[in-house]
Amino acid sequence: MQAATENLSIIRPDDWHLHLRDGEVLASVVGHTAQQFARAIIMPNLRPPVVTTALALAYRERIMAALDKAGVEPGRFTPLMTLYLTDNTSADEVVRASESGMVHGIKLYPAGATTNSDAGVTDLLGRCAKALAAMQRVGMPLLVHGEVTDPAIDLFDREAVFIERVMLPLRNAYPELKVVFEHLTTQDGVQYVQQAEGPVAATITAHHLLYNRNALFQGGVRPHWYCLPVLKREKHRLALLEAATGGSGRFFLGTDSAPHSKGLKENACGCAGCYTALHAMELYASAFDSVGKLDQLEAFASLNGPAFYGLPVNQDRLVLQRTDYVIPQELPLADSTVVPLAAGESLGWKVIA
Ligand code: DOR
Ligand code: ZN
Repeated sequence: MQAATENLSIIRPDDWHLHLRDGEVLASVVGHTAQQFARAIIMPNLRPPVVTTALALAYRERIMAALDKAGVEPGRFTPLMTLYLTDNTSADEVVRASESGMVHGIKLYPAGATTNSDAGVTDLLGRCAKALAAMQRVGMPLLVHGEVTDPAIDLFDREAVFIERVMLPLRNAYPELKVVFEHLTTQDGVQYVQQAEGPVAATITAHHLLYNRNALFQGGVRPHWYCLPVLKREKHRLALLEAATGGSGRFFLGTDSAPHSKGLKENACGCAGCYTALHAMELYASAFDSVGKLDQLEAFASLNGPAFYGLPVNQDRLVLQRTDYVIPQELPLADSTVVPLAAGESLGWKVIA
């Protein structure tokens, strides 16, 4: 007897952490995200970075044009813009960003932490006091890349040390500041976010829910599993999975999908970033299914984020079907290709509407 088709219908989700890039790369990837998500928080780490409201609005126009060119119907997808925090971000700029109605967060990249972060912050509490005070006042969330850059700290410990050195003093100084701990990767991070007082939340990627650091080295070095913060031990993956599926409103979906061309990943100094925009909801559904928690997917993907950001929940729905889905090996990316995460592997779910 044939098994009945199993469909999972949820309110259309949003991606609270996404890299779309610019130009031809933007044109290649934006349709993937628009296929699954109604909105996404767009990371500002372009070259040069998006440091002003004017730059964010111009970038938004380029995204809207790329959506149009990709044949995405108007109104189907809304980019939620962000600014890149620097030592020189002024309080006035924060107010302008807030008043634009288009900028929904300001991103902290500690200088040197990751791709295109050279212009990042050198000393958050010392140099960004005016911007942080203004953000707290107007309710503008600070989106945090939570890793220290101190070369003396082991790569795998950089999130835990960031909590001690940056998060705790930051929360003491600005207790009402909204903070999103982006792409959380450790048990330490989960515990911190769960017990923190005030408006603190975290995004979690699909890859950190599905893989531990063994994936980086299975059968040889596998650059397509390399991202920052890097994949961690299994105990951390399990803590993240429990947090994402546990019903707390503080955790929500953020893919951190970050396209790099195949050549820049398969390289002596390969770029950090996993491409998951094509198959994001398939990956998340597989992770939730692995622990029998599909009933929690909607809250994580579609409800908790809007609640934290103070935005309405989406009106339409997304449907996943339980079926075998093989992830493509490569996709076009400008004049090159991108290898999606877990290319060639099978997942048990497919987005069908
Ligand atoms: O792996 C990553 N890739 N982590 C980041 O923080 C940045 C991103 C990118 O922009 O490629
Ligand atoms: Zn990112």
